[in-house]
Amino acid sequence: MSASTVERVLRIEGLTARVGETDILHGVDLEVRPGEVHAVMGPNGSGKSTLSHVLMGRPGYEVTGGSVTLDGVDLLALPTWQRARAGLFLALQHPTEVPGVSLESVVSEAARAAGRSTEGIRDLLVAEANRIGFDERFVSRPMNVDLSGGEKKRNEMLMMGSLEPKYAVLDEIDSGLDVDALAAVSRRVQEATEEDGLGVLAITHFSRLLEVLEPDQVHVLAAGRIQAVGGPELAERLEAEGYAGVLAEAGASVGLPTGVSHPGTHEAGFGEDPFADPLA
Ligand SMILES: Nc1ncnc2c1ncn2[C@@H]1O[C@H](COP(=O)(O)OP(=O)(O)OP(=O)(O)O)[C@@H](O)[C@H]1O
Ligand SMILES: [Mg+2]
Repeated sequence: MSASTVERVLRIEGLTARVGETDILHGVDLEVRPGEVHAVMGPNGSGKSTLSHVLMGRPGYEVTGGSVTLDGVDLLALPTWQRARAGLFLALQHPTEVPGVSLESVVSEAARAAGRSTEGIRDLLVAEANRIGFDERFVSRPMNVDLSGGEKKRNEMLMMGSLEPKYAVLDEIDSGLDVDALAAVSRRVQEATEEDGLGVLAITHFSRLLEVLEPDQVHVLAAGRIQAVGGPELAERLEAEGYAGVLAEAGASVGLPTGVSHPGTHEAGFGEDPFADPLA
């Protein structure tokens, strides 16, 4: 197939994976095309971060079936650095601290590995920092060391902005960000989809990120499978009602805790203890 006829899509088909002795992903199907935003929501422990690690090839995560292709390239056959070079970027849920190595060195090294010039990388990073209202001194500091949770997330965004990937998996990029940072980061991602045709897989627990990002589709991952797919209204429904109703309609049995009263469906009243453990 010639380059011009290659279908541009990040395609995940029937992906199954295990960590250690435990099967976590039980057949995930998902497609992200350039410029599209796909949100992945799901209960804690449902496999969202596992999916992101499997896509990026983190050691310890074993693919047991299915396929992942990026614009026709078999991603699963490649080591992590070549997946990055093929155009995949992962913003980690828990960014790693790398003492002694600055963000500038990391991005320069990535540019070199991709055969690109490293000239002007510092200016690019400073410009990216300004776009998301981030202090440019973080560009030269050891990567993520002693940074606050929100600062680490913005560091991930600086990398995304300067590496110009084709597809980005953002694992809870919104967690830990203050409201202004959240607005700036969401806008930056939105601009990348429009200006550069970035395809986005945004893992999140909250619809707030999606108010700016405007997902094409919202996927509900539970028990290692996509159990439901909908538009942006699905995210709002989940936030208001929790997962039980949507998953029951999908016929999924995923062992959610019972008796949880959710804010969206909650009747406030005297005699209720707002500090009580809702899962007790
Ligand atoms: N190294 C590991 N060994 C064994 N089990 C693991 C390992 N890593 C993750 N798991 C388990 O895999 C399941 C899925 O974890 P994962 O981190 O993918 O969840 P998640 O959907 O990202 O949750 P959250 O919303 O809390 O971030 C969890 O039950 C977790 O305990
Ligand atoms: Mg996670």
